[in-house]
Amino acid sequence: MKANSLAVATILGLLPLPGQCSKLSSFALEKVLEDASQIFGTYVKNTNSKAEWMKSYPDDTLLVHMNIPGTHDSSTWNYTQATQDALLGITDLNQVTVPAPETFRCQELSFIKMLDMGIRAFDMRYAMDPTNTSLVFYHSEALLSETANVDNVLFGFYQWLDDHPSETIFLSFQYEGSTAKYASNDAAVQTLLFNSLTSPAAKSYFVQRKNSLGTLGSARGKINLLRRFDLDELPSSYEDAMPGLHFSPSLWTDNDPNIVLTYNTKENLTAYIEDYYEPTTPTGSSATENIRWKYNATSSHIVKATTEEPDSLFWTWASSENTDNTPPDWPQIMALGNGTAYTPTGGVNNLLIPFLKEQKNRRVGIVMFDFFDQPEDLIDVFLSL
Ligand SMILES: *[C@@H]1O[C@H](CO)[C@@H](O)[C@H](O)[C@H]1NC(C)=O
Ligand SMILES: *[C@@H]1O[C@H](CO)[C@@H](O)[C@H](O)[C@H]1NC(C)=O
Ligand SMILES: *[C@@H]1O[C@H](CO)[C@@H](O)[C@H](O)[C@H]1NC(C)=O
Ligand SMILES: *[C@@H]1O[C@H](CO)[C@@H](O)[C@H](O)[C@H]1NC(C)=O
Ligand SMILES: *[C@@H]1O[C@H](CO)[C@@H](O)[C@H](O)[C@H]1NC(C)=O
Repeated sequence: MKANSLAVATILGLLPLPGQCSKLSSFALEKVLEDASQIFGTYVKNTNSKAEWMKSYPDDTLLVHMNIPGTHDSSTWNYTQATQDALLGITDLNQVTVPAPETFRCQELSFIKMLDMGIRAFDMRYAMDPTNTSLVFYHSEALLSETANVDNVLFGFYQWLDDHPSETIFLSFQYEGSTAKYASNDAAVQTLLFNSLTSPAAKSYFVQRKNSLGTLGSARGKINLLRRFDLDELPSSYEDAMPGLHFSPSLWTDNDPNIVLTYNTKENLTAYIEDYYEPTTPTGSSATENIRWKYNATSSHIVKATTEEPDSLFWTWASSENTDNTPPDWPQIMALGNGTAYTPTGGVNNLLIPFLKEQKNRRVGIVMFDFFDQPEDLIDVFLSL
């Protein structure tokens, strides 16, 4: 029996009898992956070269030296009008009005497709589901699924890593505020997240280091936790037991093109982060102008990654929106443009391709994209640096 199947069976309280184990535990795993599918996607094993691109990097490569393509608001890939309508009855419990789906949608392919196409960093935004029983994924007020939750989606990653043991994954977890009228990052939420990230299964799939990144070799087949959450409602023993790099939300300044965040004061380990997600242009600015501002912040930060602090972590967010603008610049418009009549040079992704081609053999760090699959050579260019 594989370790992950045992963990599923244990979680479900189905410690199987000897002799029955492989059949029952594979049914249990199938059920868990089915529940996860609205966020993780339908599990199909695929072994193309991009699904295992880390095979060509030596074990002693430091993770901070690697170029890691990621996705921003990864869970939003199926958030259409139909999804919003389907979840509206449940969302009503949240006592909030939810704006148009274009406001929230930042991707169009499932997690498993992202993984198979080379994506290795995921932005996971969780909060309590509308019935206050489990942690599910949101983008602001938009509930993204009621059946796929933090627990079962993690099993999708565990299964994928079993199928691709050469790879390492970065999962960023962030508490999503403004999901429901009275929702807060309280002790109940923090306890659920703690339990998911320290379960027996999590202990065997998450790298157990705290506040430092090691080598690729030590992280293959495992997940590196990027903690954009505090455990401030729980006793300090919980904080002590939590692995991963801690990016306290209190230090992650809002809409900042140059965040300098020390995540390990003892060893003086600092991360350089660009998270300028809403260009500060005057209302009524054109999409082209907003795209320019965002491209400028993104490319300037990547230039820093290629030239400064070679042993520090660089984490650049190429994602953006300006939904307060008139007309609104949805994430898709920012990433891909709005048709050549309005945005002749395309969106941030289009502008990044020639820029990235000039960064050959350089460290660019972790870069989080919206609509990562367009233009279709974006990730190929990134992975060939
Ligand atoms: C995507 O959303 C639609 C509309 O809610 C739903 O019918 C479909 O099953 C979803 N797709 C997946 C893969 O969950
Ligand atoms: C969930 O918890 C919130 C905050 O405590 C509360 O306002 C809300 O009524 C609860 N919802 C349900 C369905 O129990
Ligand atoms: C900590 O590291 C930063 C660069 O990452 C450096 O500028 C600073 O001088 C260091 N501080 C100490 C106390 O070593
Ligand atoms: C471009 O980026 C640089 C570096 O972040 C910043 O100093 C400058 O103000 C930006 N210019 C515009 C127009 O956004
Ligand atoms: C995008 O293009 C449409 C026409 O196709 C236009 O109505 C809309 O205002 C444009 N939006 C932006 C942000 O430029």
